[in-house]
Amino acid sequence: LVTSPELIDHKGLRETLKEDTFARAKTILNGIDSRSTGAYTHSQGLRAIRENVARFITKRDKIEDEKLISPDSIFLTDGASPGVQNGLRSLIRDSNDGIMIPIPQYPLYSATIQLCGGQQVGYLLNEESGWSLEVEELERSYKEATSKGVNIRALVIINPGNPTGQTLTKGNMEAVIDFCERRDVLLLADEVYQENIYSDKPFNSFLKVADEMGKLETTEIISYHSVSKGFLGECGRRGGYFHLSPAIDKSVQEEFYKLVSINLCPNVDGQIMVDLMVNPPKKGDYSYDQYAQERDDILNSLKRRAHKLVSALNSLEGVSCQPAEGAMYAFPKITLPAKAVQAAQSKGLYPDALYVLELLENAGVCVVPGSGFGQKDGTYHFRTTFLPSESKMDEVTERYKKFHNDFLQRYA
Ligand SMILES: Cc1ncc(COP(=O)(O)O)c(C=O)c1O
Repeated sequence: LVTSPELIDHKGLRETLKEDTFARAKTILNGIDSRSTGAYTHSQGLRAIRENVARFITKRDKIEDEKLISPDSIFLTDGASPGVQNGLRSLIRDSNDGIMIPIPQYPLYSATIQLCGGQQVGYLLNEESGWSLEVEELERSYKEATSKGVNIRALVIINPGNPTGQTLTKGNMEAVIDFCERRDVLLLADEVYQENIYSDKPFNSFLKVADEMGKLETTEIISYHSVSKGFLGECGRRGGYFHLSPAIDKSVQEEFYKLVSINLCPNVDGQIMVDLMVNPPKKGDYSYDQYAQERDDILNSLKRRAHKLVSALNSLEGVSCQPAEGAMYAFPKITLPAKAVQAAQSKGLYPDALYVLELLENAGVCVVPGSGFGQKDGTYHFRTTFLPSESKMDEVTERYKKFHNDFLQRYA
């Protein structure tokens, strides 16, 4: 309807689509000066949509003073990735600048740091306690890097985690905020999986926790969100945003504006997708019941699949998997036989890469080796997802189990 506005008055469609759909299309078009999705927009994205994002953040985080979350501090992006890249690009000035990232981490971070010529400063997540993030480890990593002359510019936190699937507790987040304050580092909060929660640990944004600590106006946070995850999963539409917390100086906002202007504007369909994410149908709207039903069905199914996959993995010899509390992944540890390790080395492969290649070839199941994300030395993992449809999950886990047992025998 927004792409071909003449369809808003199409009789046949009027009978098929829900009534509020037309009103929504009109509202979106009214927010576009040209009334056409084919034109450039403001480089930060359409103001009307940024206003909806600001309202979403204010409501989600129960921020009392709504003026603190300004549409000017919001930048719509083509997915979260370009926002992360712009953030890292503006932080890394020379090869002495370091960014702290979790190990294991999502490779967007390691790759962009490398591309910008900065230093990746890893901090290890603690697998034994459910991939928890420990402030002592942040301190260890910070001190080790700074003692070598590295200038730590920012700390990246992925919550819920990819590939590790953990969700942070509030107490843990408070300790992280204190660390950032003590060490004067910017917090990059990757919160793209905020809707994907499968345990009784709720998602809290860093902005909310900072606000509750009375530190909203002093903690510098750039947070990221995306239409790619959650229950929308519209990753091909490339929509997302980043938000600069109120503590971030206005001059930084202006610099970001210049930076994003280089690309003219984020794609308009992705911007509209963000609008749908942050401003979904409300109770009483014609579409609400269907929306709520689909959302709950998807999230409940993901939760069932998460539990099923993790327990199937844990039932195998030599495999241990921490609970998938959030996101869309399980990251099991695999104990590989010495002969498999030798075979991999003789082929110039990481041992976990040999394992996943054989899994693909023998069982047709595609997973990513832990070495692609970084892992504690001497440990091997792979990342798998519970995205296959529920009806396929049993078959996939059966195929995987058979492969794993055959693999252990082959290299016994
Ligand atoms: C932790 C994390 N951050 C960011 C992204 C980027 O997502 P997108 O650019 O599609 O929004 C992903 C994608 O998988 C991710 O897992």
